[in-house]
Amino acid sequence: MTVRYQGREIEAFDGEPIAAALLAAGVSVFRTTPKRGEPRRLFCGIGRCTDCVMVVDGMPNVRTCVTPVRDGMEVEVLEGRGAWTRRRAAGAPRAVPAAAKAAVPAAASERDAHARVEA
Ligand code: FES
Repeated sequence: MTVRYQGREIEAFDGEPIAAALLAAGVSVFRTTPKRGEPRRLFCGIGRCTDCVMVVDGMPNVRTCVTPVRDGMEVEVLEGRGAWTRRRAAGAPRAVPAAAKAAVPAAASERDAHARVEA
């Protein structure tokens, strides 16, 4: 499969993280810092820092070390704090996973139930 980085096609293996495909292709800049514009790329490699964040299919601040590639995916350098570059492409991941959204009402109802017991 192929991924586009700054308009350039890069070969990738199914299921590998975006960062792995970019590093294998020799990419050295994933994002730039907000104040000084200094280049950053992979640091922790396990989704704990934010050094690998990029704009993926128009969505900013995607951790590329833990996000798998998808054929035709467009990856761009994130400059500063990043911004949405366009609407989410069909099939691209949502900003908030459905599982995370579903967890919110459950937690809220659990908290409400606890409050009723205390009252
Ligand atoms: S390298 Fe740290 S979150 Fe990806």
